[in-house]
Amino acid sequence: MPSRNLSPFSRRSFLHLSAAASAAAAFHIVTEPMLAAAARRPFSKDGVMIDSNENPLGPSQPARDAVSAIIPQGGRYLDNLTDDLVHTFAQLEGLNPDYIHAFPGSSPPLRFAVVAFTSPRKSYVTADPGYEAGMHAAAAAEARVVKVPLTKTYAHDVKAMLAAAPDAGLFYICSPNNPTGTLTPHSDVEYLVENKPKGSIVMVDEAYIHFCDAPSTLDLVKAGKDVVVLRTFSKTYGMAGLRCGFAIARPDLLDKIMDRAGWNFMPITALVAASASLKDPRLVPERKRINATIRQETFQWLERNAYSYIPSESNCFLLDTKRPGKQVIDAMAQQNVFIGRIWPVMPTCVRITVGTHDEMEQFQAAFQRVMRGTTAFSLQPARPTRNPRRVSALPT
Ligand SMILES: Cc1ncc(COP(=O)(O)O)c(C=O)c1O
Repeated sequence: MPSRNLSPFSRRSFLHLSAAASAAAAFHIVTEPMLAAAARRPFSKDGVMIDSNENPLGPSQPARDAVSAIIPQGGRYLDNLTDDLVHTFAQLEGLNPDYIHAFPGSSPPLRFAVVAFTSPRKSYVTADPGYEAGMHAAAAAEARVVKVPLTKTYAHDVKAMLAAAPDAGLFYICSPNNPTGTLTPHSDVEYLVENKPKGSIVMVDEAYIHFCDAPSTLDLVKAGKDVVVLRTFSKTYGMAGLRCGFAIARPDLLDKIMDRAGWNFMPITALVAASASLKDPRLVPERKRINATIRQETFQWLERNAYSYIPSESNCFLLDTKRPGKQVIDAMAQQNVFIGRIWPVMPTCVRITVGTHDEMEQFQAAFQRVMRGTTAFSLQPARPTRNPRRVSALPT
């Protein structure tokens, strides 16, 4: 049976084409590299790039082989490859293929879902600090943006989110969270789903799920709840530049997202690389182990040197520099080490992506030089933070 993804000329696609005019406002998709670019100096080929939560390992060998093998057919649309990918994922996760839609990354469905489910009367509710892309989409929908501080354990505070927005259209949960790499328990997401205002939806961004042991919320989608789950191949699978992701939800919710998307066609290189990645049973456990090992070594180094950080279960973490974070970012860039941005609620914290073992050694050496003031750059002491409770909750 062909799935909803199969034919680009299906009735669904035709309807989406006709909705293209209303979708025009939805095309300004914001994604991680754009957000990272604000803090990044000009790209340096030999620099240590640990600012965008990319995977330094890149695509797996089976994915690379699949891309090479498909290149001679690059003159064809080969829309059956989307169907192959969707069916492979459906089988692995025990999902109905009609509940899955493939996109070039998870940024497009994130954007389209926010635009579809929020409006000037239906607010967008997110965590602070949290991944910012949805806020940009909410601004395009002229929706109120409600930012709710994380709990003391850096989980989403679902009760506070519910209390803050009785008019919510969409609750955005990112677990593990970007930038903190911390988890929100499945039971909290269930609570949110059961107690949310009628007509609203919960979108769970599982971009970093494969780095941790936490359960997915796909069971809530299977149970027919008002939940959209986002997945991407940009992180553990190392395919950020190849572009592939999924929105997973009830078909009626997917229809609403697709109404904002217009015509959506996948590059065949992304499709075959994603399929090959899913079919490789060693990929996720191996990469999860590599990431966890390097992250742990980095945390041990930070502890030995009395630096404060938030323990993370992901490929990024927040490091408290106890200085205005922007100055540290600039000083690190002068050392050819490009670290992630700051969030206004935690102005002394910078986000660090876990790179390779060598990259993290270079990061450590540069960070030590910057913090000990042995560089030409002089760091100013931090102004008092606007969120002392959060920062003082960091381990020292
Ligand atoms: C939480 C989160 N969601 C979604 C994305 C989008 O990634 P992509 O469009 O590459 O799938 C990112 C990128 O860093 C992210 O951090």
